Amino acid sequence: MKNRLENLKEEILQELNKVKDGDLLRELEIKYLGRKGELSNILRAIKDLGEKERQEIGQLANVFKNDITAKFEEVKKEVAKNKGEADFVDVTLPGKKIAHGHLHPLTIIQSELEDLFSSLGFMVLDGPELESDYYNFEALNVAKNHPARDMQDTFYIDKKNADGEYDLLMRTQTSPMQVRAMQKYGAPLRAIVPGRTFRCESTDARHEHTFYQLEGFMVDKDINFSHLKGILDLIGKKLYGPETKLRMRPKFFPFVEPGANGEYSCFLCKGKGCRVCKYTGWLEIMGCGLIHPEVLRAGGIDPEIYSGFAFGFGLSRLAMLKYNIDDVRLFNSGDLRFLEQF
Ligand code: PHE
Repeated sequence: MKNRLENLKEEILQELNKVKDGDLLRELEIKYLGRKGELSNILRAIKDLGEKERQEIGQLANVFKNDITAKFEEVKKEVAKNKGEADFVDVTLPGKKIAHGHLHPLTIIQSELEDLFSSLGFMVLDGPELESDYYNFEALNVAKNHPARDMQDTFYIDKKNADGEYDLLMRTQTSPMQVRAMQKYGAPLRAIVPGRTFRCESTDARHEHTFYQLEGFMVDKDINFSHLKGILDLIGKKLYGPETKLRMRPKFFPFVEPGANGEYSCFLCKGKGCRVCKYTGWLEIMGCGLIHPEVLRAGGIDPEIYSGFAFGFGLSRLAMLKYNIDDVRLFNSGDLRFLEQF
């Protein structure tokens, strides 16, 4: 009997050590201390013992019961305390910060330029990324076998038209919107077209199959080269500060005549020569020129009455220069380590 009591005590203490929550504790209480529990069985058996033994064991059993009951109380308090701590809400703690989204670096530059051009009375237009061969090339004076197409290989859609030609492609430039806008709005016309463009490139740090351009054009009576120069000068100062100088050097594009490369004095070295401008002092930013009469005609505008200028540049390239980004592929990477820096 004595042994039974001791083994039972041992067992109960071991079980109580494992207790973490109230449910298990209640189970143990019923199992050991309940009316049909182990202890009750022992107590009931005491009356059948001989006189001497009954006294001895009775006393032991009483001490046992008190000890175990006290131990249960102790564990009960412990469990209640833990539960209280878990439920406790400290209302004075600062709230959890919700992470806000923010603009992509390309969007930041695009919005800045949209603000500038809107203030000059330019519309901001959007155009199709899936273009026809006609708008992307032919209407821009780039005939089917023109060597200028080599520079702008792109992704063609695997579907022939009625003439058996593949005439759907991902636009290589935003320039097709020149003709589309002329057809839709006629002259006079002032618009910019920011948008996504595509080329079949072997990608590297400076080339990407998907990039962003911004096109701008103006058509009116008596538009000449000095209007173009004035606008480009303004863009340069807006982008790179009031000290920025503009330089224009002749360059061939089939859809402008005369055509030029627009270059700005390097914002970093102020024209002295550095890594960013490849030690030339100048940054080649855009293609530009006076809109070719054939392009005006394609847009349904009479080149004898109207003239216009157009320019186009890579928004991706601008953003790379402005933020000192050394790999164009980061823009489309979705890499948060990159994006969270803006
Ligand atoms: N579309 C030309 C390009 O992508 C740039 C350009 C636009 C040139 C407008 C002249 C006029 O290279």
